[in-house]
Amino acid sequence: MTDNAVKFFVGNIIHCPAKLQTELIENGYVAVLKNQIIAVGDASTLPSQLEQLEANYKIQTIYLRKSQILIPGLIDTHIHAPQYPNAGLGYDKTLLDWLDCYTFKLERQYKDLKFAKKVFDAIVKKTLQHGTTTACYFASLFTDASLVLVDSVIEYGQRALVGKVNMTLSPFSDYVETEEESFQNTLAFVNNVLSRKVDLVQPIITPRFALSCNLEHMSELGTIAKNNNLFVQTHISENVDEVAMVYETYGMSYAEVYDKSKLLTEKTILAHGIYLSDDELQLIAARKCSISHCPGSNTCLKSGLCDVRNILNYNIKMGLGTDVSGGPSPSICAAMRSALTTSVHLSFSEENYKPLTYTDVFYLATLGGAEALGLDNKIGNFRTGKEFDALIVDVDVDDTEVDYLLPCNPMEILQKFVYCGDDRNIVSVFVGGKLVKEGNTKFT
Ligand code: GUN
Ligand code: FE
Repeated sequence: MTDNAVKFFVGNIIHCPAKLQTELIENGYVAVLKNQIIAVGDASTLPSQLEQLEANYKIQTIYLRKSQILIPGLIDTHIHAPQYPNAGLGYDKTLLDWLDCYTFKLERQYKDLKFAKKVFDAIVKKTLQHGTTTACYFASLFTDASLVLVDSVIEYGQRALVGKVNMTLSPFSDYVETEEESFQNTLAFVNNVLSRKVDLVQPIITPRFALSCNLEHMSELGTIAKNNNLFVQTHISENVDEVAMVYETYGMSYAEVYDKSKLLTEKTILAHGIYLSDDELQLIAARKCSISHCPGSNTCLKSGLCDVRNILNYNIKMGLGTDVSGGPSPSICAAMRSALTTSVHLSFSEENYKPLTYTDVFYLATLGGAEALGLDNKIGNFRTGKEFDALIVDVDVDDTEVDYLLPCNPMEILQKFVYCGDDRNIVSVFVGGKLVKEGNTKFT
């Protein structure tokens, strides 16, 4: 497709115009010029639209099939790129033992930049195949390896926030930095990423969690974030032993530790948040932070059941995270299903609890994720002026058109995708208007 053409995607379009709201534009269109959505509407008005544009632009029309829907790209608000080789392994342990026995051992290996490139290319390609158009990555403790992840996301065209991990405490002397090294290396990482001037990629400040950094160190990292107007990501309240240890170490709640370090701002993404008290949730809401819900990881590491409804009731921004390799799957579609399962399990023990629906998790996976990452002015739904990050989803990829599929209306197609879909059902992926995964879409 030529770059200065206006592309019209015509067919059934589903997105979330606002929090927990889903809209179907039946027989609609999204018009895209370069990276931007320039119009959205009803396809019956298409002839007049085309007439206006034809004088100045080449027009390309992409007709979706009956078994297809156009949806916004999926957003992974929490994923550890270097842990990808461990996906599916180590779930005989819970969080703190898992970190010591499996995770740090693997992460130490990223001094080897060839290994880093191999793994990072693989995870970026894999997540794109699964429709993750934006990922918020924990990279490596090592600055060079973290920059290799930046290379990979740029090479394959993913939108990303990438953070060099910071920790001064671990069981391995070759897998920590001094506070001074951490500060200087983070600055160098940030400056390197910013100097590349790539719109799709931004650095994010990444203190690992309250048990791997002290207050002063976290405050210093917070200062780098503030001075450069950057986001911060970390973990919070994931596991009961961890929460107890944070209290023992600092004599205050998990949220208060981060607040004391000035890390709680409207640009902070906190992963997990299972055991936050009402006071902590109030504090997090007041500071306007986001929470990344990682249900696959919470299940595999037996961390617990996170009550999304309760957190949303505090008006806290929320998205979904795969948390690879705490979570076994790099797919946000799988994360949507895990979120549904977790919510149903919660409903068994809480009276009058309304489990999340497939449209609720679709919101978390798209607009919710964009809000959590501060990107909702750019992506998350099909609003005119936003960038075009989108998937064409097809529930009939085998071309069988079998009878049971034919009665599927567009909302049922979305429902089937959420409950039964995988990467085979994602036939095309667009990031910033660019096709990054090619499927069997008919271009005319
Ligand atoms: N807490 C601190 N580090 C990690 C990590 O790598 N994964 C998860 N799930 N929790 C953490
Ligand atoms: Fe994590």
